[in-house]
Amino acid sequence: MKKIFWLAPLGALLAIQFIRPDMSNPPVDPAQDLAQVLQPPTEVQGILKDACYDCHSNETKYPWYSQIAPVSWWLAGHIREGREKLNFSTIGALPAGDRAESMSEAAEAVQEGEMPLNSYTWTHASARLSDAQRNLLVNWLNANGEGEASPANGEAAESGHVHSEDD
Ligand code: HEC
Repeated sequence: MKKIFWLAPLGALLAIQFIRPDMSNPPVDPAQDLAQVLQPPTEVQGILKDACYDCHSNETKYPWYSQIAPVSWWLAGHIREGREKLNFSTIGALPAGDRAESMSEAAEAVQEGEMPLNSYTWTHASARLSDAQRNLLVNWLNANGEGEASPANGEAAESGHVHSEDD
């Protein structure tokens, strides 16, 4: 009798494995990527890669459990939504004003602790930002956001050295 209780959910779990979400990465044009367009300092680029790129770029790294339904559906939803809101791989395609707006929005999301998503930092230790990393990232994003004289290409790298309360 007890066996039945196990078999039904197990069967369901096996059955849903056939429903696979699209987990492919769209092609990447490095010339359009944030790294090229705004040329952040290496440390900032590292933080973005570790804490944001899996959901906000076309360079998602899918962990093994991302292949297993229903986790796969949940993660694919995050990635689709994340890319829709902000995609660092295609940031070069945005008009400068929209790009600055995105950077300001990102600064706010990070400052408020909204991003990276908690469900992500639980499973990705390198995405847990220290206060210093958070400050560095927020300052850089703001320096490239609205309200600041948005630096043009190239000079952006210089403005990356903003005065953060680094220790
Ligand atoms: C696990 C996936 C994931 C990671 C990692 C992640 N995000 Fe997001 N992000 C999302 C999703 C999903 C949304 C859309 C839903 C929402 O706003 O909560 C979003 C929305 C946003 C938005 C739009 C917010 C708004 O108010 O509309 C910004 C800006 C953003 N993320 C920036 C970042 C930055 C910067 C990082 C890295 C520090 C980051 N995200 C890391 C999944 C992620």
